[in-house]
Amino acid sequence: TFVVTDNCVKCKYTDCVEVCPVDCFYEGPNFLAIHPDECIDCALCEPECPAAAIYAEDEVPEDMQEYIELNAELAEVWPNISEKKDPLPDAEEWDGVADKLQYLER
Ligand code: SF4
Ligand code: F3S
Repeated sequence: TFVVTDNCVKCKYTDCVEVCPVDCFYEGPNFLAIHPDECIDCALCEPECPAAAIYAEDEVPEDMQEYIELNAELAEVWPNISEKKDPLPDAEEWDGVADKLQYLER
């Protein structure tokens, strides 16, 4: 499965959802999650993210491991998203800021 990680928080560009052939992205207030049981590992979303926030599960950086469980948990409770929308208003300012997990809203 693929995993959405730290740099999506407070950016949420949503380019990723447009290319997913199985529509397995789920939307929270300021983050998206991939449902691990639905992702077919096509890898199409990874290069689409302007924030480079998406990784294959086995390539998730050491300091972002908790996002693996978070994607699974949040994809169960958030609504599906399959159409691109505008990024969050201050996405550009937050793109690249480290350790944004503390800002993740549920
Ligand atoms: Fe969707 Fe493919 Fe990305 Fe999985 S790897 S979330 S199936 S686009
Ligand atoms: Fe997030 Fe990147 Fe998608 S910022 S919403 S994972 S395009």
